[in-house]
Amino acid sequence: MTFRTIIEPFRIKVVEPIRLTTQAEREAILCDAHYNLFLVRADDVIIDLLTDSGTSAMSSEQWAGVMRGDESYAGSRSYYFFEETVREIFGFRHVIPVHQGRAAERILFSLVCKPGCVIPNNTHFDTTRANIEYLGGRAVDLPCPELSDTATPHPFKGNMDTDALERLIAEVGAENIPLVMMTLTNNSGGGQPASMANIRAVSQICRKHGIPFYIDACRFAENAYFIKHREPGYADKTPLEIAREMFSYADGCTMSAKKDGLANIGGFLCTNDDALAQQERELLILTEGFPTYGGLAGRDLEAMAIGLREVLDEHYLQYRIRSTSYLGEHIAREGVPIVQPPGGHAIYIDAGRMLPHIPPLQYPGQSVVVELYRLGGVRSCEIGSVMFAQRDAETGAEQPAPRELVRLAIPRRVYTQSHVDYVVEVILEVYRRREQLRGYRITWQTPFLRHFSCHFEPL
Ligand code: F0G
Repeated sequence: MTFRTIIEPFRIKVVEPIRLTTQAEREAILCDAHYNLFLVRADDVIIDLLTDSGTSAMSSEQWAGVMRGDESYAGSRSYYFFEETVREIFGFRHVIPVHQGRAAERILFSLVCKPGCVIPNNTHFDTTRANIEYLGGRAVDLPCPELSDTATPHPFKGNMDTDALERLIAEVGAENIPLVMMTLTNNSGGGQPASMANIRAVSQICRKHGIPFYIDACRFAENAYFIKHREPGYADKTPLEIAREMFSYADGCTMSAKKDGLANIGGFLCTNDDALAQQERELLILTEGFPTYGGLAGRDLEAMAIGLREVLDEHYLQYRIRSTSYLGEHIAREGVPIVQPPGGHAIYIDAGRMLPHIPPLQYPGQSVVVELYRLGGVRSCEIGSVMFAQRDAETGAEQPAPRELVRLAIPRRVYTQSHVDYVVEVILEVYRRREQLRGYRITWQTPFLRHFSCHFEPL
């Protein structure tokens, strides 16, 4: 007998109280924070969906690992346990610990990225793009065409456009492409997975041209689970077997263990290239630490290694993917436009379609973000023109981003179904009031990454 209800496959041993604010309090808080949710204290948030990164609840096993952590400077037992775990899942020869994903990116790109080089990806995450551009390279996004239509579901919207990759290689020359990367799942593209067939095809193109192929592995377990349930031939394989096959096509990976490592800090860089690994370790010592701790404590290595095994548990993944789609389905069926299908780690509301009366440069996404907080104390993140508007090189005029999205990222193992039901209720209330929502004006901003600190004023 199997039952329909998918339960959280864990009990709760430690609880963290949530301070329940009133709407009047939140209105004052918003005013003090200049309507920027990055400037609001976490204690003033009821449900925090700002990010799924570093916000996971650790298990009793992980906390036990924290106590077992070996803090030796060199040759720590925790390092060998971590290295063995990463080798078993990811299969790469060299495993280099770092304090988080972007440190792996910085070390890798500092060594391979020369001015004028080109690095394609299905869609670069902000930090990979920024690290490449900082070194004078060009970060190119080659998402599959299905990604641009937010309303129509497709099982693998995280795929790379392989024809576009072939064209790019022909255009710029393989010698100017130090590596090709795929981000699994595609975070900036809505948490959408790539299929095994697509990963294999990209790998074959890279091998044919002698270009190394890397995976940005942040949400690899979620991607593996989608392959199991959506791609023919994988239903009977375990997430571990699928993950191993995914990585078998690659020459290395970067990883932020703050996502599918179920850890609050940590990451790693892998490669099969002995000479490159040697150079990476030299840079590691310069900026992160000795190669058997890489900017982390021994206890962090333990927590990461245990988290990497737990994240591949099928019951965990079923609960994880289901709780995200549960949120998406309950708001979409009442008419809220979301990126379809629901992603693995987040739901993306299409604020451009929800608030057609607010022009992109009056930031419809920000209007939704503020209203979700004002009415229900829910914190989300604008991923639209506040974050990604470009300046016209000649006139300096602001150009809107391609889409006005609001991301509701779900921390792992943190919230229960009734928390999600509450979020659904808050979103539906904002949706009912959508015609009364107004746009915003930016009154103060920094030249780079303005979304973290800029000030807004309601129009
Ligand atoms: N790659 C992807 C796909 C990411 O989503 C992130 C972080 C990184 C790399 C960088 O890792 O934060 O450990 O340095 N994403 C977070 C987010 C910040 O909210 O999506 P990091």
